[in-house]
Amino acid sequence: MAIFSDNMGKQEIRKKNPIIKPETIEYDTTFENSIRPKDFNNYIGQSALKETLKIILEAAKLRDKPLDHMLFYGPPGLGKTTIAGVIAAQMGVDIKITSAPALERPRDIIGILMSLKGGEILFIDEIHRLNKIAEEILYPAMEDFTLDMTTGKSQTAKTLRVQIPKFTLIGATTKVGELSSPLRDRFGMIHRLEFYTIEELSKVVERTAKILDIKITADGAKAIAVRSRGTPRIANRLVKRVADFAIVKYEGIIDNKVANESLDVLKIDEFGLDNTDRALLNLIIEKYDGGPVGIETIAAALSEDVRTIEDVCEPYLLQAGLLQRTPRGRKVSPEGFRHLGFKAPSEQTKLF
Ligand code: ADE
Repeated sequence: MAIFSDNMGKQEIRKKNPIIKPETIEYDTTFENSIRPKDFNNYIGQSALKETLKIILEAAKLRDKPLDHMLFYGPPGLGKTTIAGVIAAQMGVDIKITSAPALERPRDIIGILMSLKGGEILFIDEIHRLNKIAEEILYPAMEDFTLDMTTGKSQTAKTLRVQIPKFTLIGATTKVGELSSPLRDRFGMIHRLEFYTIEELSKVVERTAKILDIKITADGAKAIAVRSRGTPRIANRLVKRVADFAIVKYEGIIDNKVANESLDVLKIDEFGLDNTDRALLNLIIEKYDGGPVGIETIAAALSEDVRTIEDVCEPYLLQAGLLQRTPRGRKVSPEGFRHLGFKAPSEQTKLF
């Protein structure tokens, strides 16, 4: 797997408590890459996607044609890069990985497109951040496998059309709504990745513990799964952290007690929320009567940037039903009030 990305975009939103934030951070990319499944059998969850992909891959092999371009979207950490790697391995082709912020100049995207060999996969992460010029270069490459290059200046400028080998583009994004429609329309398949169930995450946890050569009981795996916010990347990080606790402070086995005690020390609660998530809910409850309140106000009050809140904190708070998005801003749900130890507004006695 060739990694072309410098992860620029992700570094920008790297934040204080990296264990529980699902975007990639440098120190654990090696760990993450070492445990990535390489085939569908080891890729847990996303069963609808896997079934569709198995058929698409089989058909492409039988027809001896490259795969259609594919777009995967959904919150970070759900396995968009991982599934792209599985696809490449199953097709027996190489994958080149980059991210849109690393394709700033025309020559960045031209260079990478020219380097592709027939059948290869180009993976572009955060594809919603591609600039207009890069998009314009990508359109004919995706459609006809051609590159239109301009040589010379103003009046003497000539456009040269170059043929490139047939490749498959796999785009990944957390914000499908921000893709321009011409770009979106050029993908033959668009699929949303879903949060994982507790059962699926327990399997991810058990698989990772096995790779790390640490013993884990079924209820130990479940305890970690419950606090992983539906996200395998978080589950994997938590296994590693709990394994450290188990080795240093316990008998080297992760059971229910070891998992829960370690996660309490790490300040990750039973919903998988960390201090930032709790601060966000607390702020809306205590300062804004539970909301609605605008995202900019929330971000400023927490000294976080809007993108971190939108991309990292919110998706899971919304999915867990703790937060609600309304046209007038964010609101804490009755469940969110209760989780933070408050009475929900509907449960408060009216004085007048
Ligand atoms: N690690 C990250 N995502 C995974 C998945 N879907 N299955 C197994 N291991 C994973």
